[in-house]
Amino acid sequence: MVSEDPTKKTLSELGVRDATELAFRFTGLRAQLQKELKHAKGPGGWDSLREAWVGSGDSVKSRITANWLRTAPDSLRAAVARDLENLINEVFVLSTVMRPLDQLRATQADQVAAQFLNVQHLFDTEIEECVDEIDLGVSRTFWLGRSSGVLTHITDSWLKTASPQLKRIVGAEFNKLKNYVETKIEARRAAIESGAEESALLRERVDLSLPGVIRPIGSHHLIRQVFQEIEDIFVSIGFSVVEGPEIETPYYNFEALNIPEFHPVRDDMDTFYLELPKGALTPLLLRTHTSPMQIRTMEKQKPPVRVIVPGKVYRRDNPDATHSFIFHQVEGLAVDTDITFCDFTGTIEYFVKQFFGSGVKTRFRPSYFPFTEPSVEFDVSCPFCAGTGTAASGGTCSKCKGAAWIELFGAGMVDPAVYGFVNYDAKKVSGFAFGIGIDRLAMLKYGIDDIQAFFQNDVRFLRQFP
Ligand code: DAH
Repeated sequence: MVSEDPTKKTLSELGVRDATELAFRFTGLRAQLQKELKHAKGPGGWDSLREAWVGSGDSVKSRITANWLRTAPDSLRAAVARDLENLINEVFVLSTVMRPLDQLRATQADQVAAQFLNVQHLFDTEIEECVDEIDLGVSRTFWLGRSSGVLTHITDSWLKTASPQLKRIVGAEFNKLKNYVETKIEARRAAIESGAEESALLRERVDLSLPGVIRPIGSHHLIRQVFQEIEDIFVSIGFSVVEGPEIETPYYNFEALNIPEFHPVRDDMDTFYLELPKGALTPLLLRTHTSPMQIRTMEKQKPPVRVIVPGKVYRRDNPDATHSFIFHQVEGLAVDTDITFCDFTGTIEYFVKQFFGSGVKTRFRPSYFPFTEPSVEFDVSCPFCAGTGTAASGGTCSKCKGAAWIELFGAGMVDPAVYGFVNYDAKKVSGFAFGIGIDRLAMLKYGIDDIQAFFQNDVRFLRQFP
């Protein structure tokens, strides 16, 4: 270690910037120490080795103190001091236990005992310094390691070379020391472990006085909220909620609803057909409305029937502010032995007033749907301008475009032809049905001008409806 002796340079010259790099340098020094210890011979050799490493003149110790410790950055100073102390201790211990007893001038029983006591003191100093399991692991290897632990060195250098008259006393002292070291390491380990547990408990203690972490829990999509609102209103007057498949057969989507194959209304309900294997029994399509559930419900159930059906529906439409190829409806169906047109309009009016407020008026106009007869289109007096067509600011109401009325949804008395498809006796039963477009209703009620906003899922939009 002459020319490239690292202890002659400062840490910054060596490029040592953190504890890992520092540990690496000390490991290098230890390897050097081991090498020199192996080659030390004769009392003079051992003494000069000690001088070179820990002597008060120019030694490794004094160079590290001057070049590393004094110039160390604050963040490394404590580590340098500790590593240096350990190294010095190691030099003392190893240069003692690797030297034959006679070269230590221990030829009497009491001198032997004194050497053992000396080693024990060095051990004590070191073990007290161990603050965690890592330190302790290093010390355990240093002292008890099989191939080059301190105790192994003592066996090799002291026990095996002892004169016959000293052998017994060296053996006894050795066993005493070994016991001492093992017991103390174990005790230290237990202390560190319980200390570690204690400090871990302290660290992990829950402080109930701290404010909690607020976890955003999200909210229902506006469409889901409107479904819920509508369901609540109808459930409160005796309807139950059922759901049906989004993939339908043309029979349920069209035929059983009195829309035969070449009926012109099919043009309004262009939709997506599924690609099926050749020979499939029936084509399958994405339902264009929730009305097929009228049929499915009546097939399953005898009157009285009172259901609403919320769900997704599909049409081959090009997306724009008022069109989407996917949208939402709530279907309604009530069938019983004596349901009248009055029950029908009363029910619808009740719903509309619950939904928009009791101030609104309703009206219906004749319309046409193949599965209702008569069919109507329900309007509500514009809830935004109180049915005046004039906005509060004086201009034309933007919601009803000055019409004072807003077209709400289609409905009607169930066409007797439909009962024929579900084995109901058209002479005994009557009923009404309606189909509410949810997206349009939500847009109206919440002032949304683009249906696409429902499907883009931009959280800035969604957050407006918590
Ligand atoms: N299914 C129709 C559509 O999607 C809406 C509809 C109209 C449903 C009248 C009904 C009804 O139940 O009676 O255009």
